[in-house]
Amino acid sequence: MRGQAATAGEGSGTLSFRVLGSWPDAPDGEAARTRAALERLLADAGGPASFLRLPSDRAAEEAVLAAAAAVPARFRRVLVLGIGGSALGARAAIEALPAPGPTRAARDVRFLANLDPASVADALEWFHPDDTLLVVITKSGATVETLTQFALFAERIRTAGGAAALREGVVAITDPERGALRRIAGSIGCRTLDVPPEVGGRFSVLTAVGLFPVALAGLDVARMLRGADGVIRALRDAGDPPTHPAVASAALHHRAWERSAVRVLWAYGDRLAALGDWFCQLWAESLGKVRADGVAVGQAPIRAIGSTDQHSLLQLAMQGPANLCLTFLTAGGPWPSLRVPDAGALDPEMREFAGRDVGEVFEALRMGTMAALVRAGRPLLHLHVPRLDEAAVGALFAHFEVETALAGFLLGVHPFDQPGVEEGKRFAHGLLGREGHERDGREARALLESEGRAE
Ligand code: PA5
Repeated sequence: MRGQAATAGEGSGTLSFRVLGSWPDAPDGEAARTRAALERLLADAGGPASFLRLPSDRAAEEAVLAAAAAVPARFRRVLVLGIGGSALGARAAIEALPAPGPTRAARDVRFLANLDPASVADALEWFHPDDTLLVVITKSGATVETLTQFALFAERIRTAGGAAALREGVVAITDPERGALRRIAGSIGCRTLDVPPEVGGRFSVLTAVGLFPVALAGLDVARMLRGADGVIRALRDAGDPPTHPAVASAALHHRAWERSAVRVLWAYGDRLAALGDWFCQLWAESLGKVRADGVAVGQAPIRAIGSTDQHSLLQLAMQGPANLCLTFLTAGGPWPSLRVPDAGALDPEMREFAGRDVGEVFEALRMGTMAALVRAGRPLLHLHVPRLDEAAVGALFAHFEVETALAGFLLGVHPFDQPGVEEGKRFAHGLLGREGHERDGREARALLESEGRAE
C-alpha cells in the first residue's frame, strides 16, 4: 500500500491521501473485512451511523440558518457552554477558518467547556447580557459541567433583565424531549434546537451542535455541509479494495494498532490545533474499549502542530519506542505571502532564507520532517486539502468520522458509545450528594482513601 494515493470529495473539499513509511503488511482477508465494515456502516446510516445523513439533511440545515438569522442584532458576541462533543467541533471549525470580517452575521463566538473556576470566572467577566447571547449545548441535558455553568450565567442574565432577558438571551441545543436542559428551556421559554437522539455526541458536529455556533460566527454552513457530503457520497464508490481515504486509513490503523499504541495527528498550521483536539476526542472515546472477547483495544491519540512540535514530539517519534503512527495534515492555503528580506549582512547563514516566502520555509520544514520519519521506518500518512475553507473543514469532519466508525467496526467495538466514562460520573454525583447516589459517594471516598494509604 506504500505510496498509495487517493482522493475523495470535490473542489476545496477534496482530500488527497498518501501512504508513506513502513506499515505492517496487509493480513489475509483485509480487503474483504474492510469492504464488509464499509457495507455495515452504510447500512447503519439509518440508525447508529446516522451522522452519514447529516450533510444532506436540508431541513435541519434550514432550521439552523433560520435560528441564526432570528438572533437579535444587539447580540454581537456569543458564549457557548458545552463540553466534549458539544463544543469541540464548532470550536475546531471556527478556529480553523479566518473570521469573515465585520458583517452583521459575524459574531465573536467563544467557548466555555471546562469547569475550572478560573476559566469560569474569566468568562463571567467577559460576558455581558446586553450584547452576549448564551448558547447552551448538551445532548443529554445532564452534563455536570454545562449545567453548573448554566446556573451561573442564567442567574447573571436574570439579574440584569429578568425573565424576558432569559427568554431572548438564551438558546438551548439538546435532546428534543429528554433531559434537564429541555425542561429548563421549556420553563424559561427560550429558543431551542434539537440534537437528533440517534447521533452520538462526538459525531454531532454537523447537527445544530456544531452548525449553529458556526453560523453565528458568520461562516458558510452550507459549504461546510457540501464539503462533508462529497466525502460521504464518495463512499458508495470506494473501490475494491477500497481506496477512499477514510476507508483506506481505517484499514491501515486496524492493521497497525497492536504495534502502534499511539496515533499522532500532526497538522501544519496553528489554526488546526482545535481540529486536532476534536479528532483526539473522537478517536479516543470511540475506540478505547474492551472487546467481547475481553481484549482491550484502542490507540492513544495525540495532536501535534508543525513546525512547533518538531522541537518537542519529533525526537520521541524518531528514536523513541516504535509505537507511533502519524498522520500529517496540510492545507494548500490560503497563506499570506511574506517575503523574507535578505539579512545576509547580519550573518551569512541568513542567506538561506533571503527572498523566499515564509510559507516555502515552513513547507521545507514539514517535508524534511516527513522524509526523516520515512527513513526512520515510521508508518506515515499524508492528508491534504487544497485550501482551508468551509468545504475543506466539512470534508475533514466527514473523513475522520467515517474513519473512526470503520476503525471501530474493524476492531470489533461499538464506536458510538462510551461506557467507560459513566462510573466516574456516578461517583461525582455521589460526592455532590445527589439523591440515590449516597453509596457511590461513600465508595468513591473509600477508594481514594485506600489508594492514598501509606504501605
Ligand atoms: O461523545 C460523547 O457522547 C461525549 O463526549 C459528549 O459529547 C460529552 O460528554 C458531552 O455530553 P453532552 O452533550 O450530553 O453534554
